[in-house]
Amino acid sequence: MTSLQAIRYSRGKLEVLDQLRLPHEHHYDVISTSEEAFDCIKSMRVRGAPAIAIVASLAHAVELENGSYTATTADEMIAYIDSRLDFLKESRPTAVDLSNAITLLKLAVREAQIKSLDHPEARAAITKAYIEAAENILEKDLLTNLSIGDFGANWLQGQHHATPERKISVLTHCNTGSLATSGHGTALGIIRSLHERNLLLHAYCTETRPYNQGSRLTSFELVFEGIPSTLITDSMAAALFALQKEQMNIGAVIVGADRVVRNGDTANKVGTYALAVLARYHGIKFVVAAPTTSIDLETESGRGIKIEERKREELTQIAGAVVNPDGSVDTQKTAKVAIADQRINVWNPAFDVTPFELIDAIVTEKGTVVKSKDGAFDFRDVMPERW
Ligand code: MRU
Repeated sequence: MTSLQAIRYSRGKLEVLDQLRLPHEHHYDVISTSEEAFDCIKSMRVRGAPAIAIVASLAHAVELENGSYTATTADEMIAYIDSRLDFLKESRPTAVDLSNAITLLKLAVREAQIKSLDHPEARAAITKAYIEAAENILEKDLLTNLSIGDFGANWLQGQHHATPERKISVLTHCNTGSLATSGHGTALGIIRSLHERNLLLHAYCTETRPYNQGSRLTSFELVFEGIPSTLITDSMAAALFALQKEQMNIGAVIVGADRVVRNGDTANKVGTYALAVLARYHGIKFVVAAPTTSIDLETESGRGIKIEERKREELTQIAGAVVNPDGSVDTQKTAKVAIADQRINVWNPAFDVTPFELIDAIVTEKGTVVKSKDGAFDFRDVMPERW
């Protein structure tokens, strides 16, 4: 493999890297229907807000390309597409990218219907409009991430007067890299950009319990890219930050987002809020990297965000490949191991909300947003059309 690719797509064919088997095995699932995409997202074989939206959108594009519908009129076609998209939207509720993609796709097919009214080929025009709009979501995502990487690196370089002689270290949480997007990543994209500019001293990544996106996926991406990096458990962040003044030069905590709402409150992988509190206490910048597709201007504050709760087994069991006595990993043998009394009550929210007061900057593909003098975030400049 020359580059990590969570999603492989050509018209009529969608393949998704099974992230549950990483880092031990690279297996792509072929996704041909909305049902298969729903299951792939729900079971977290693909995860990360942008990747979820891309897979759902493209899965239905494949379905349409392969002609698996019975609609005969334009109206029936629109109703069919709506019903598939509404079904896919239920796969995971917290990330807003999927919901934003669905709004965009529904608009694209309606515009095509209006243009081709009374046309005998209206159904084909609607199908074509859907497929092109879905493919456009995939294509735009990579450019978006490259832009976030640049804006974020610029901002941090400016804040810390970083130079190749005076590099900065950063800490990140969960996985926001190539595996969570179409490529490059958001928060991890900024880290990649810092590294490319020779401004990165070291990247720390948290294990990210309970699903271990940090240890399974981010550490895999960092090693793959040759970025100097160290894995810590979530509970070690305070100890690391306490050392920072004397030894570490940690310039920022950089995280992604599943939903940023109008006032800047940010839902991201559970554990993010704790890192923001710790960063503030230790005088470390806290940066959220989020494409504008992760911004929800309809919801006023974090209180309006629905937080997904996941199953108890994510806390009471752990899955992995078997380690041989000589330390090598046997990728053919995977095992689920009980790590708690299986009868214990479990609370397993997948995300938490970081209040905007604790966030120093929100980096989008259109620019970096910081709080104005009155202490509030204002997304007018980066989202003028939706403000
Ligand atoms: O439950 P997950 O793995 O989908 O959670 C992912 C995150 O919280 C990411 O930080 C977020 O989606 C941003 S990905 C660019």
